[in-house]
Amino acid sequence: MKKNFYSLFLLMMVGVALIVSGCTTAPATEEVAETEEPTEAVVEETEENSGVVNLYTDRHYDTDQELYDAFEASTGIKVNVVKGKGDELIERLTREAADTEADLLITADAGRLYRAKSADLLQAVTSDVLSANVPTEYKDGDNNWYALTMRARVLVYSPDRVSAEDLSTYEALTAPQWADRVLVRSSSNIYNQSLLASFIEVNGREEAKEWAAGLVANMAREPQGNDRAQATAVVAGEGDVAIMNTYYIGKMINSDNPEEAEVGKSVKVFFPNQETTGTHINVSGIGMTKHAKNADNALKLMEFLSSTEAQSKFAEANYEYPVHPDVEASDLLKSWGEFKTQQVDFSKLGENNLEAVKVFNEVDWK
Ligand code: FE2
Repeated sequence: MKKNFYSLFLLMMVGVALIVSGCTTAPATEEVAETEEPTEAVVEETEENSGVVNLYTDRHYDTDQELYDAFEASTGIKVNVVKGKGDELIERLTREAADTEADLLITADAGRLYRAKSADLLQAVTSDVLSANVPTEYKDGDNNWYALTMRARVLVYSPDRVSAEDLSTYEALTAPQWADRVLVRSSSNIYNQSLLASFIEVNGREEAKEWAAGLVANMAREPQGNDRAQATAVVAGEGDVAIMNTYYIGKMINSDNPEEAEVGKSVKVFFPNQETTGTHINVSGIGMTKHAKNADNALKLMEFLSSTEAQSKFAEANYEYPVHPDVEASDLLKSWGEFKTQQVDFSKLGENNLEAVKVFNEVDWK
């Protein structure tokens, strides 16, 4: 029995040895075959994909697609666009890590660009074209992102009920004379979060909180709707002054919808804080993802979007302020005059974002 057991054991060992050796030789051949085949496949795929760039964006304007189409027509590089909310796209990039298909990220808020950079989702990009087209103050200090457009968060008012002399600063809107007259969207909106983040930077947390509380006290209604809805509410007489971004007025005035166009034409724009800290500005910007697989094409698209051609389109069709020094704002924006901008490093809008959200909660800004 014992001898039989040992014979069986020996047989088993030989079997195991054969299987092991088999295991080492067989996959070795397969590995060779596997590496050969996919190598060819990868090459083919790269060749096929040489005409592609994949973009994640939270911008929601038709102008952008028209620009991607123009880029595609002139370069043959297909632009695949994934739209989403800024934070969702940042979360997705984090989750996808090195596997991401995205080569570029565009967001309509400097705070989100800062967030993407802080999460190590972007990479430094330098090019003579970008350096020439985008002034230093409109790009990240480490070249992780470049601004494409600038916008101001201004006061929009009904000239029937308010005169420009009544207006001065964001801070002045907390005075008793503005009780139940101020319109602004919810605190979950990134434009408002960056506005408050800038006040935290300029005036300190305590003053920023006082401002937010004072504004809540003077609101004409609980925050609702988007920026355009605030202008509509001004014209409807729900309130007298609204806080909103400049380009929306341009888009409303030139809207195909006659009611919206009427609203746009019925309100006036005021740049606050001209004698003090300047009107709050924010940017839309673009960064190349850390794991971009079509980096050459991505850089080409970045350069194209900073070109005079694209910058003119942002200015003329979307009523944003171009960042390219040689491109002028649209006639409408020029008609509002030049204005003093708030001097806050764009990274501070991101750094102070969490604190801004806390302050909004503390003062119960819905
Ligand atoms: Fe917007």
